[in-house]
Amino acid sequence: MRILLAFASLFVSLSLAAGSDTLNLMPMPASIQAGGGQLSLERSFSVAMSGYRDAALDRAVQRFLAQLSRQTGIPFSQKTGGVSNPTLTIRADHAREKVQKLGEDEAYELAVSGSGATLSAPNPLGILRGLQTFLQLVNITPSGFAVPELNIKDQPRFPWRGTLIDVGRHFIPLDVLKRNVDGLAAVKMNVLHWHLYDDQGFRIESKRFPKLQQDGSGGQYYTQDEIREFVAYAYERGVRIVPEFEMPGHSRSVLAGYPELGSGSGPYPVEPGAPDVAIDPTREETYKFIDKFIEEMSKLFPDEYVHIGGDEVNPEPWNANPKIQEFIRAHGMKNNQDLQAYFNQRVQKILDKHHKIMIGWDEVLHPELPKTVVVQSWRGQESLAAAARQGYRGLLSFGYYLDLMWPAARHYAGDPMSGDAANLTSEEKGRILGGESCMWSEWVTPENIDSRIWPRNAAIAERLWSPPEVQDPASMYRRLSSVSQSLEWLGLTQRSSLHPALERMSGGGDVKALGVLAGVVEPVKDYVRMDGVKGPWDFRAPLNHLIDIVRPESDQAREFAEMVQSYIAGGHQDARAAAEIRQRLITWRDNDARLHAELEGSFLLQELVPLSQNLSTLGSAGLFALDYLEKATPSPENWRSQQLAWIEQTKAPTANLLMMVTAPVQQLVEASGRERTQR
Ligand code: ACM
Repeated sequence: MRILLAFASLFVSLSLAAGSDTLNLMPMPASIQAGGGQLSLERSFSVAMSGYRDAALDRAVQRFLAQLSRQTGIPFSQKTGGVSNPTLTIRADHAREKVQKLGEDEAYELAVSGSGATLSAPNPLGILRGLQTFLQLVNITPSGFAVPELNIKDQPRFPWRGTLIDVGRHFIPLDVLKRNVDGLAAVKMNVLHWHLYDDQGFRIESKRFPKLQQDGSGGQYYTQDEIREFVAYAYERGVRIVPEFEMPGHSRSVLAGYPELGSGSGPYPVEPGAPDVAIDPTREETYKFIDKFIEEMSKLFPDEYVHIGGDEVNPEPWNANPKIQEFIRAHGMKNNQDLQAYFNQRVQKILDKHHKIMIGWDEVLHPELPKTVVVQSWRGQESLAAAARQGYRGLLSFGYYLDLMWPAARHYAGDPMSGDAANLTSEEKGRILGGESCMWSEWVTPENIDSRIWPRNAAIAERLWSPPEVQDPASMYRRLSSVSQSLEWLGLTQRSSLHPALERMSGGGDVKALGVLAGVVEPVKDYVRMDGVKGPWDFRAPLNHLIDIVRPESDQAREFAEMVQSYIAGGHQDARAAAEIRQRLITWRDNDARLHAELEGSFLLQELVPLSQNLSTLGSAGLFALDYLEKATPSPENWRSQQLAWIEQTKAPTANLLMMVTAPVQQLVEASGRERTQR
């Protein structure tokens, strides 16, 4: 790059781990050289385009300027006609593919000096990525908004960086999906895996088979025009839409309108608790249906890849059907798995006929399938390596399930190339295309979905884009907080949705004390909530309890835990840290008195009474412990054991919520019994 050479002498090269950490970039670029100065963003800010240009690129620049205006409050607009002295010069060498391709070049280079910036890329896809980097670089200074002087050369580590959104269990309207596509683009993800139906709902308009949406959707589906519009929307943002058509399991909503495809005798209405019945793979009519269906869907979804699901096929309906069992015997198959492999081969041939490449969950892995098939690993990382060894390309989703309510750091630690994959040959490693986070929607609504996806998804995006050595969780959390703020400028609501939901639960009024409680709890993890459901899970039930509203990860609890750890590790001598810890503990101790009447007054809040009392108990215990620590007098043994016994009781979930400040308070109490250590 010419511009890089011109500025090279002015810049100091910084390692990824050190200097670039002061920037709020996420995902962290592959290479950054930081300079000392900055580029001011004045009202006169202008963009010039040289090189390849088309209407879509012009629209991308307009969106960029609108976003820049939102971030600064300065009304930027693109000048028509020629621009002299542009602040930002954009240069793409050539057009991008008409249908975004896996592995299409996303590289870009961004050079910022005090007098202007240049963003260049082989094609507009790289420009889209670079514009997002530019937006993340904007910060406020004493003299105005500015972008630091630097040179960035960036490209993704993996070509497939996606998020699955399940719209089957709960319908998610298009406007909500669109703002999430904006979020994906902001963190340089490039695939939305659209899980378009499941047992609980079918979400696509089919003109060929209209009973699919008529009987399977409860009126909640996307029209074909909406789907086309959404696919175009995502394309303009550099995001591929990969549709998933689940078969043969997880497809009761298909059988609602077409019971003749089912393995039982039907009918199969979509209703809470109704079992997954699985498509009958032994009938020729099944394949005729799939052929016609895929033919129609191929026109709606231009991406080269189609996901056929293939996970968790319920064996019961196949076992119970003598004709299916006879088919297995007559064809020399051993079991249901062989039958599913037979089904997958037939479906793969249909996809091939319609020029589509098949993806399936790891259950589809079978040596009879052609090596073009992509295997998506959800049950464990081993299957990803196993697929790569057998010559299949693969995607990692195990470890990236957003519905499990894990902290961002836990997702961040998962790497497609770790575990069994670390021992693959370089050729086998080359088959690992990347990964996808998964937003399964059992407990998700349009209201809370943003807060389930964001900001944690940005940490997964970084894992899939940035060099593997970018892995410091402290740096990740610092940048994640900044990214989360800027995602709200895009219209995402992961932060802003909390307050109105608390007001609804309490019937209006001041929800400050309720906010204190909500800020230090998290939903139960993994499948604990589902496991606790008595009787059939009701996907139509209102999701309006505190668990549905609080964030999956409590920043306040994490920060408090870090504060306590460093205070104890420092020999509890830091009076300022002690004062900060004390202030929080007092707030928690006193919160229940403020909140109690409010909790009693709302049927949605009553279940939180013991949780609020626990927070108060923890606040008191922590304050006594802090007193001992500050006085450097060890706490009495019997006091400690009594406190620890109480603290133990606060660990059990209440209303499916976990109290997240329990562990640091326990640490304070335990430390209060020890002599002060000399540093
Ligand atoms: C899955 O979670 N059954 C793919």
